[in-house]
Amino acid sequence: MGNKKKRIWRWVALAVVVLFIVLQFFKIDTSVPKFDADKDFIAMTAPSDAVVTLLKNACYDCHSYATEYPWYAEVTPISWWLQHHVEEGREHLNFSLWGTYSIEKSMHKLEECTEEVEGGEMPLKSYTFAHGDAKLSAKEKATLVAFFDRLRKE
Ligand code: HEC
Repeated sequence: MGNKKKRIWRWVALAVVVLFIVLQFFKIDTSVPKFDADKDFIAMTAPSDAVVTLLKNACYDCHSYATEYPWYAEVTPISWWLQHHVEEGREHLNFSLWGTYSIEKSMHKLEECTEEVEGGEMPLKSYTFAHGDAKLSAKEKATLVAFFDRLRKE
């Protein structure tokens, strides 16, 4: 490589490092609006301890206001990508707002929960990659699905 090319690459590398450092000043907003804990899905449906653990480990980080952020949520731009999943997840289904859903809406969401879990679509692959305890075994899927289905029939 010529000297001139080497110099250009050095500037590019420096620019990337500087950009990364500047990005660290942009933190995501992890605050949540006020919400009524009595309207939470787990509070309202009183599942078994096993189901509570599965929901909290595999769903609640994206589908509730009780998100537990990992340390790398402090690192921009990873944080932007995480927050995008959380916001999109809450938009589709927010277990913290369960009691505010109409009967039709909650029945429909339960049906979708069954479909997503049975089809292996949820939790997202990118999530189970970093959260081993969120990876659902066939038995755990069956446990969750049985609970969703039972609620629909009540
Ligand atoms: C990493 C974040 C994340 C996790 C963890 C996660 N989801 Fe999702 N979920 C999303 C996002 C984002 C969407 C919307 C886009 C899509 O469908 O891929 C979604 C969509 C859904 C939908 C579709 C709702 C609709 O209106 O179409 C259901 C149902 C659902 N998730 C249930 C679950 C359940 C049940 C779990 C736990 C077993 C879970 N999700 C875990 C992020 C997540």
